[in-house]
Amino acid sequence: MPGTSKNLGGVALVGSGSATPNQRLTNDQLSLRVDTNDAWIRSRTGIGARRVIGSDETLVELSQRAGSLAIQRAGWDPTSVDLVLLATSTPDDLFGSAPKVQALLGAKQAVAFDLTAACSGFLFALVTASQFLRTGAMRRALVIGADQLSRWVDWDDRRSCVLFGDGAGAIALESTSLVQNGLLDFQLKTDGSRGDCLNLPQLNATSPLVAGATYQQGGFSPIQMNGQEVYKFAVREVPAILETLLKANQVDPESLDWLLLHQANQRILDAVADRFEVSYQKVLSNLADYGNTSAATIPLMLDEAVQDGRVQPGHLIASSGFGAGLSWGAALFRWQGAT
Ligand code: COA
Repeated sequence: MPGTSKNLGGVALVGSGSATPNQRLTNDQLSLRVDTNDAWIRSRTGIGARRVIGSDETLVELSQRAGSLAIQRAGWDPTSVDLVLLATSTPDDLFGSAPKVQALLGAKQAVAFDLTAACSGFLFALVTASQFLRTGAMRRALVIGADQLSRWVDWDDRRSCVLFGDGAGAIALESTSLVQNGLLDFQLKTDGSRGDCLNLPQLNATSPLVAGATYQQGGFSPIQMNGQEVYKFAVREVPAILETLLKANQVDPESLDWLLLHQANQRILDAVADRFEVSYQKVLSNLADYGNTSAATIPLMLDEAVQDGRVQPGHLIASSGFGAGLSWGAALFRWQGAT
């Protein structure tokens, strides 16, 4: 899907928030469960620890905490929000968790729904929400990326369980004039024919219903991943889509303030930086603390960098998300913050 049409209104990114579970699980702790060790995980992935939702927390609560902070920092009243879009593959409720988040936020006027695109979910949701704002159909949108993959990893599979963690991040988006537009362009891609290397499939459990009829009991198997195939996909497609986006907008990689990539593996971040000859200092990374939080990684990272002052109003950011589907995308935006 190509990027923004130039004859609509603009979108500004005006607030951010994030929330992570209380439980922190280090690599050393994980090595008590599976045959792994801190040195292997750090050298192959850059991950040092991850957060895991315990029995006293839910995805809805994390999403609400992240969303409330974003609304507050944007300077909004919750009742002025028109849309709550929750990007998640791991809702508390398969019918959707966004409505419960909307209620807890007090965003009474907002329509709320979930969007599923795995680790590309936040980027896909950002672009989706921005369409309502650019056409003028809506004025304010809250885009949340949140996941709890800890519920769906096989904690005895060392090839995948070391990678993932739980978290939530949120961005407040506002319609603006085209002159003030902050979401400069985007590209979104899907290739379902290559999707088998990363799945969270339904259980295959057939039971008799009545004579001559069967049904499948609902439920899901743990994550199934071919790590090497996913790695190759990421290091091929992420630079390619970013290059297309930057060229289309005549943006020299040197003029970027930040590269904000889906946090899956430090080696993938470094490979993309090398490809564009962007200094590692300009590549935002919090993998060491959180691992791969799926749809949450980009807003969680952005919020951290906004709060500690690395990302400043006016900064130009190239972002890319990728994951199951297979799906991937990129967006070029300027952070605005509350004015
Ligand atoms: N601890 C210790 N050893 C491990 C291990 C672990 N957690 N996981 C795998 N190993 C072992 C393997 O068994 C293998 O041993 P062997 O050579 O004796 O068979 C060895 O380490 C190398 O395994 P390999 O799978 O080749 O490692 P890798 O360098 O490809 O790294 C990943 C594995 C998963 C870190 C890497 O492929 C990756 O990051 N892929 C992308 C995954 C991803 O990001 N998924 C989400 C996308 S949104």
